[in-house]
Amino acid sequence: MKVAVAGTAGLAQHITRAVAEEGHEYPFFLHTKILGLTKSSNQQRPQLAENGFRVIQVDYFNPASLHSALIGVDTVISTVSGAPQLALIDSCLTACVRRFAPAEFEGVPYERPMIEQGRKKIDTLNRLREVKERLQSTAFCCGIFYEWFGPGGLSRSGVSAGTILETTPTSRVFVGDEACYMLDFRNERATIPAYSEKGSDVYACFTAAADVGSFVAKCLSMEAWPEQLRMRGERLKLLDFVRIAEAVKDRVFSVTIIDSEELHEQAIDAEEAEDWEKVSKLEALIAAQRGELDFLGANANDCLPEVKTLSFKQWLSKAWAQEA
Ligand SMILES: NC(=O)c1ccc[n+]([C@@H]2O[C@H](COP(=O)([O-])OP(=O)(O)OC[C@H]3O[C@@H](n4cnc5c(N)ncnc54)[C@H](OP(=O)(O)O)[C@@H]3O)[C@@H](O)[C@H]2O)c1
Repeated sequence: MKVAVAGTAGLAQHITRAVAEEGHEYPFFLHTKILGLTKSSNQQRPQLAENGFRVIQVDYFNPASLHSALIGVDTVISTVSGAPQLALIDSCLTACVRRFAPAEFEGVPYERPMIEQGRKKIDTLNRLREVKERLQSTAFCCGIFYEWFGPGGLSRSGVSAGTILETTPTSRVFVGDEACYMLDFRNERATIPAYSEKGSDVYACFTAAADVGSFVAKCLSMEAWPEQLRMRGERLKLLDFVRIAEAVKDRVFSVTIIDSEELHEQAIDAEEAEDWEKVSKLEALIAAQRGELDFLGANANDCLPEVKTLSFKQWLSKAWAQEA
């Protein structure tokens, strides 16, 4: 089966590696061509080619460029969002690609209005619904990457350059540094929205990015894809999430439990101060509190028990072992 992975960042690399291990025809990356650069200065990730991966440069806004790259491809896994992804879907249709997985990889779509703000991922899913007779698709849902909580955060993990959130139509904010989200493992602190507005415990799902890659690769062998494929390393109460970190470090953390009213008040203040980074961080906490990163049934885990996922404790211990 010929598989193309759109994007070349760390998540795309985990997926590609796992697909190759599954014995499919060697997958290749679609890599954004930056117009105006020469071919050699466009080689932004030379290590991929050095490691034997095939990289095809595409201009997402040139249908001919995409079409020729996609001829003969069975499945496209996308980690690229926004307008480039919509153009990619159009080209998948003309190149008769059979299946497409959009850049999802977070909570369950349609249940995450706060996360969705300004990100337009739903536009992609709506487009895929329109063309479902011609292009099969699924949304891979994995909750929160463990990589947010390692040394250097999401950015240093290489899994993602960091999540870029559009807080207003004109403002884009980069969030991905160590300790920017819920847990500051190094300094033994945590700020969590432990309780919902109704006072019940807040839960979230978490997965290691490498395990997401393994699930995606195994799901390629499924006869038909359901609308969502939900996977997780663990579903944790946020209070337990912090307790695990305390156990790994063998220290008691300073824990701030932030309630809904306080979160919204702080978000309004931050918005008035036009501190968009703070707004984004608070919105991410509000989303967690609203349960946008939680889901109950994990159909990918159920269908693929052979994928052995890491627990948060295993992942966190390993991630911080070298920093000790
Ligand atoms: N659950 C979580 O905790 C979590 C955290 C972070 C991300 N995610 C999800 O993981 C997926 C990948 O995230 P990511 O942070 O790696 O995404 P990203 O920063 O948007 O980058 C993904 C790829 O998009 C391409 N790209 C970026 N800007 C582009 C542009 N202006 N035009 C064309 N292509 C562009 C790049 O491709 P090239 O490499 O070809 O240049 C890049 O490798 C997304 O679905 C995201 O929502 C989940």
